[in-house]
Amino acid sequence: MIHNMIQRPRRNRRNKAIRSLVQETLVRPSQLIYPLFLVQGSGIKDEIASLPGNFRMSLDQLLKEIESCVNIGIQSFVLFPAIPEEKKDKEATHSWASDNMYLEAIRTIKAVFPLICLMSDVAMDPYSSDGHDGYVENGQILNDKTLPILAKMSVAQAQAGIDYIGPSDMMDGRVGFLRSALDQAGHTNCGIISYTAKYASAYYGPFRDALDSAPKAGDKKTYQMDPANRREAAREAELDILEGADMIMVKPALHYMDIISDLQSMSDIPVAAYHVSGECAMLIAACRNGWLDYDTAMPEVITSLGRAGADVILTYFAKDYAAHYRSLHGFA
Ligand code: PBG
Repeated sequence: MIHNMIQRPRRNRRNKAIRSLVQETLVRPSQLIYPLFLVQGSGIKDEIASLPGNFRMSLDQLLKEIESCVNIGIQSFVLFPAIPEEKKDKEATHSWASDNMYLEAIRTIKAVFPLICLMSDVAMDPYSSDGHDGYVENGQILNDKTLPILAKMSVAQAQAGIDYIGPSDMMDGRVGFLRSALDQAGHTNCGIISYTAKYASAYYGPFRDALDSAPKAGDKKTYQMDPANRREAAREAELDILEGADMIMVKPALHYMDIISDLQSMSDIPVAAYHVSGECAMLIAACRNGWLDYDTAMPEVITSLGRAGADVILTYFAKDYAAHYRSLHGFA
């Protein structure tokens, strides 16, 4: 019998050259931001148990790490501090103190590597004795009392030379508030990558282990978003864009691809996705058990996030992806 099948999608998959010709998405290593964890001291490089292959590092080790990343095509980094408990207080005052190792690290990194893009974290939790992103009074997180604290933190980071501040706190109005604070202090070139749709997710566990930054009481549900909500992300994005964000972010990433896709279609500024610690840990655990193959599963994650609409991806896989990309395509 002659079956007249005109449409045969498999023709476009016949060989490698054809598949490569019609490939829709290819994420470049230069689109990735690699998270780095800073601790006080020297000569320290401690592996994070729940995030294998990632380390808490003192500044001297961190500089070596950045150099090795730059050599394989990673040019952008986000820096997080692990602050000793005795430096924490209710108002996160250490976040703008002159002897703060995080600010010192920003200055040194930008002096040694002036061409890289360095992003910060702006939230009270690493410095707060309550372990919350905002100011706590009688068990409540006070939005408007938090904003001036975040502003002092942001201006101090801009002063130290950060390229983008990354407000991860989810307080209302903070993007506009921080934009004016930066501008008034003369930091018009310092950008804002806003954690726009940051969900109250179970997948931040390994990160909180790394920094010892879990809330001392309660959870983050009065400021981080409900994982059930989709339209609310669009509202947050509209506000952040109006308030002056330079990029908007979705976090976590893999479980929130509908949100990435929504924001990509409504936004004319770049959309970032944060493939978070727990999402990364899950895949590593499965690979270590021999249940998944890391060399194929890992790039599939990065490609999928690009396909969903992420222009920029924050990921603990950045180095491994860059090595994989280089083996296939040479340098970006
Ligand atoms: C802190 C912050 C968190 C992450 C980035 N910035 C944790 C939290 O909100 O509790 C999570 C990143 C990850 O899990 O990889 N404001």
